[in-house]
Amino acid sequence: MSNSLTLNAHFRSNTFTFGVATSSFQIEGAADRREESIWDRFCQQSGKILDGSDGKIACDHVNRWQQDLDIIDSLNVDAYRFSVSWPRIIRQDGSVNQDGVEFYLNLLKRLKSKGIKAYVTLYHWDLPQYLEDQGGWLNRDTAYAFASYAEVVVKAFGELVYSYATLNEPFCSAYLGYEVGIHAPGKAKKEYGKKAIHHLLLAHGLGMKVLRRFAPEAHSGIVLNFTPFYPASESDQDIRATQLAHDHFNDWYIRPILEGRYPALIDQIPVSHRPDVEPGDLDIIAQPIDYLGVNYYTRARVKCDAPGDPVHLPAPDASEQTAMGWEVYPQGLTDLLLQLHRDFSLPPVIITENGLASDDHLIDGEVNDQQRIRYLQNHMDAVADAMDQGVNITGYFVWSLLDNFEWALGYEKRFGIVYVDYQTQQRTLKNSALALTKSLSNRRQ
Ligand code: NOJ
Repeated sequence: MSNSLTLNAHFRSNTFTFGVATSSFQIEGAADRREESIWDRFCQQSGKILDGSDGKIACDHVNRWQQDLDIIDSLNVDAYRFSVSWPRIIRQDGSVNQDGVEFYLNLLKRLKSKGIKAYVTLYHWDLPQYLEDQGGWLNRDTAYAFASYAEVVVKAFGELVYSYATLNEPFCSAYLGYEVGIHAPGKAKKEYGKKAIHHLLLAHGLGMKVLRRFAPEAHSGIVLNFTPFYPASESDQDIRATQLAHDHFNDWYIRPILEGRYPALIDQIPVSHRPDVEPGDLDIIAQPIDYLGVNYYTRARVKCDAPGDPVHLPAPDASEQTAMGWEVYPQGLTDLLLQLHRDFSLPPVIITENGLASDDHLIDGEVNDQQRIRYLQNHMDAVADAMDQGVNITGYFVWSLLDNFEWALGYEKRFGIVYVDYQTQQRTLKNSALALTKSLSNRRQ
């Protein structure tokens, strides 16, 4: 048992950014002070959220933000990554909700006064329901609505923001939300996924233009999630299926951004599944970004089924797994970063999310989350391995600051380094948070 974390030399450098991350819908609550989002609507449908919960109160962060910021400050981190709730900013009639703007301005000012850099994500999945009613991400207009919303935010926040991300994990919005339907808005048609992602990527590109114009000093980019895929065997079929999974789930999202084109796979999928790409779209999507945010949790092994489709295998029985049932596989992070480095001319990379859900219990005022301590140590070292091999990685953010609403899985999965008692809203630093605090304070000396 160990209650300490050792920061490797890369992480100790004072040019490396260490932070913690959250997102609006997962922590904020105060749903009555904003418009309805697609996640509010999704939560109302029975059977969609494992524990039947919703985001109405969540971690009550809108009312407890000062205490939460004090906690962040006490951790000795350099940065806090959070997202802005679009339905808290733009009302259905198009007017700006000043109450929402003020909430974030207060947060940003307090972060600034504490010397903590603000990493602001403009879209972390909580689309206003009034836009979904017009087709959501299947409607091209949503990309333009995003750009208008971004302009309001960026003009209001001014110099208070160090870094912006246009979108968080657009794969989840498009694939989970529109193709398989296990996330809001719960639409499920094979032909929807790649149409939705095109509009999300267009929103990213239009958003980048807004950021360049109104926040030229900010470091702006996008956050993508990646799963490194490994063939279940050395057979040609499994290797081909693995490549196909990679093209569908990783390459499809990054190649348009970094190279202005979709993978060659676009010519092989049925015409009805292809995105509606208009002339000029890919140039908008492929504008230079200052950094690529990479979210990593686990790997997947792939085998080929009879018709030749890739099938993701469950984590091997003998492997260590998290409370999500995800295999703990730090080598996957090194492999992924090296593969991205080989395949692309990358901008600086930031690990914008990494962490795990574990079966945490508050006992006598203590949460002894040993698995998280081990996980963080091994993954921080995996990042250092990639850096040793030449990948330019400039930061690392733990997901998450607080236990929070884990989307379709509700509140039972605890990703925080800070434990939240949802009955009392009391926060308790888990042992992982205490270990991090200590190692980060040594770094600053
Ligand atoms: C990625 C998402 O950005 C975040 O919202 C989610 O909670 C974590 N993964 C864990 O699943």
